[in-house]
Amino acid sequence: MRTDYGNYINGEWVEAASGQTLTSINPATHSEVVGTFARSGAPDVDRAVTAARNAFRQWMLTPAPERADYVLRAGLLLEERKEEIAHVMTREMGKTLKESRGDIQEAIDFAHYMVGEGRRLFGETIPSELRNKFQMTLRHPIGVVGLITPWNFPIAIPTWKGFAALVAGCTVVFKPGEDVPLCASVLTELFDEVGLPPGVWNTVHGLGEEAGAALVDHPGVAGISFTGSLDVGRMINERGGRQMKRVSLELGSKNAQIVMPDADLDLAVEGAAWGAFATSGQRCTATSRLIVHDDIREEFTERLLERVATMKVGNGLEPDVELAPVINEKQKNRILEYIAIGQAEGAKLLCGGDELTGDEYDDGFFVAPAVFTEVSPDMRIAQEEIFGPVTGIISISSIDEAVEVANSTEYGLSCSIYTHDITNVFRFAQEVEFGLAYVNAPTIGAEVSVPFGGMKNTGNGHREAGPTSLDFFTEWKTVAIDFSGKLQKAQIDKQSEV
Ligand code: UN1
Repeated sequence: MRTDYGNYINGEWVEAASGQTLTSINPATHSEVVGTFARSGAPDVDRAVTAARNAFRQWMLTPAPERADYVLRAGLLLEERKEEIAHVMTREMGKTLKESRGDIQEAIDFAHYMVGEGRRLFGETIPSELRNKFQMTLRHPIGVVGLITPWNFPIAIPTWKGFAALVAGCTVVFKPGEDVPLCASVLTELFDEVGLPPGVWNTVHGLGEEAGAALVDHPGVAGISFTGSLDVGRMINERGGRQMKRVSLELGSKNAQIVMPDADLDLAVEGAAWGAFATSGQRCTATSRLIVHDDIREEFTERLLERVATMKVGNGLEPDVELAPVINEKQKNRILEYIAIGQAEGAKLLCGGDELTGDEYDDGFFVAPAVFTEVSPDMRIAQEEIFGPVTGIISISSIDEAVEVANSTEYGLSCSIYTHDITNVFRFAQEVEFGLAYVNAPTIGAEVSVPFGGMKNTGNGHREAGPTSLDFFTEWKTVAIDFSGKLQKAQIDKQSEV
């Protein structure tokens, strides 16, 4: 399989103008280079945006069902090559094979969802106040969009954004996370293979501060859809805002699982273990706070620790591994730093939190799953996104307190409650300030046919996936057709006779 890629611009693979490259490594065995890719700058981004602009008109005029067919065919190729691409993903991003398959499945599911949207793309007809006049609304694509995506869902997130953009009629410049350029290139190859017209999809590899910044600043880009950290999102919002660009942000979070005394404890423990430690806690939706009622806290904690003790940490290619490496050295150090911060703040570390060493670990970025207790809601480890295998137990003694604590951070992506009390369920559903609210299910695992996104500083009001996925990529256009053959004045002629 090919492992070295340049940028994909106007239907061709080309080197970066500077000739510079970057390498991608395997987080489980970091001496293993996964591939070499273009390290792009402003001239490369300009070339890609120009190609996307040139392709826009023809693509916009291509019937939506035909646009959606390309997406479906890319989805079918993903389905066909799921196993092969899952291995690529585990080698490049680290997560377990099972989870890599899930990541690809999310993209396949979304292709099936979006192909239907291509035959829907509904507008409305709206009665006129005047006679012999017809009014309707159409979705109009916003133009060239820049998609800047993270490394944690290397296929799913680019396709949530990309499939929706293509069906909407936008053309794309895709700047993938610099840790996962091989996955991004494999995805790009699929678009090439299904014969997407040149310039409709362009991929520019590189660093956020170089290629990403150039894409945000390029005046030819109408919208930026970004998933990543709050700091970078804030910067994109400011810089994009100055140029009147649309900006869609999917940023950090501090997701919480509430456990009430009447919860099925086995289920709550399984949910917490999966929510906190799947993808080694490297999901925007990861359960980084466990808000547990005093009455069951001890028992819950004991069972959770027993469960965590069974988790095998190791290379995601091995079938029995539950906890794979974290993405890179920088993230590993950041996680270890938060462990120290939590301890200094007075939280009690019950297990894990240390870097694993020894034969199977020395060549990778492995952190043992960490559970803190005696965490208070205002501690930094309860407020700031860590993005690693770390969770903390906060005690509460009522549903009011649980909701108040859950809502007490600047973020609001995903929250869950384990309870069978109908009042708790509806209080929770009504009052939590999170874009995703789960009952008796973990904070991770959103399906593609529902809106995905967060409240407060997790985002800026947009939602990906589901029926909302086309909103960011389209403008509403109101079309009014007067077939009366005379000048009709709205508001003024309303009462007149024909
Ligand atoms: C993310 O981490 O940004 O809901 C996406 C989930 C996954 C998507 C996570 N379907 O956990």
